[in-house]
Amino acid sequence: MFHTISQPMRDRMNDLEAKDSQDRIDGTPRLQRLRQITHDTGKFIALLAATVPPGHIIEIGTSAGYSTMWLTLAGRETGRTVTTFELLEEKVKLAQETFQRAEVEPLVELIVGDARDYLPTYKDIAFCFLDAEKDVYHACYEAVVPNLVKGGLLVADNAINHQEVLKPMLNRALEDDRVDALIVPIGNGQLMCRKR
Ligand SMILES: C[S@@+](CC[C@H](N)C(=O)[O-])C[C@H]1O[C@@H](n2cnc3c(N)ncnc32)[C@H](O)[C@@H]1O
Repeated sequence: MFHTISQPMRDRMNDLEAKDSQDRIDGTPRLQRLRQITHDTGKFIALLAATVPPGHIIEIGTSAGYSTMWLTLAGRETGRTVTTFELLEEKVKLAQETFQRAEVEPLVELIVGDARDYLPTYKDIAFCFLDAEKDVYHACYEAVVPNLVKGGLLVADNAINHQEVLKPMLNRALEDDRVDALIVPIGNGQLMCRKR
């Protein structure tokens, strides 16, 4: 799958990786930063999303579309689009630029707004990547899990570097008998839940 990364996509990934690193060095205010997943995390979610049963691939927290590009690799391979939710206008513009430059526009549906307003209508979710503000993780988890297909996956970023603030949600997932769950030490730590 990784050998299908086109030159335009590779170029945009490289640009966004450089911008994200520079933002961290510059001390750019938090809401303006891209706060992307790591390269390894991108590979991890792409590989996982390519293995799930039929159903929707969704993402909560687009930012500039870096993680979305990784998910489109799985989408292309399995004949699916990726639906991604983003709240902030400024990030939406960057993401639109990303999808255009990387030539993946036909593979992405970008929804502008609070994901929590839309999630109850998203049935048959096969893969969900959760990477939004930490205070919405728990609500998103509770909205997504009932709508996951059997064998579907929910993966949430920051399960190790924001372990304290996410503790109630992480404990809920690790003890939830609707899913099998594990925290994987890739990138900032990935909570991985598979629907039973
Ligand atoms: C950590 S960044 C996402 C980074 C992105 N997944 C990547 O790796 O390229 C979190 C993003 O989620 C967005 N966000 C936060 N809460 C949201 C919500 N309730 N619905 C939709 N987007 C949200 C923020 O505006 C921000 O752009």
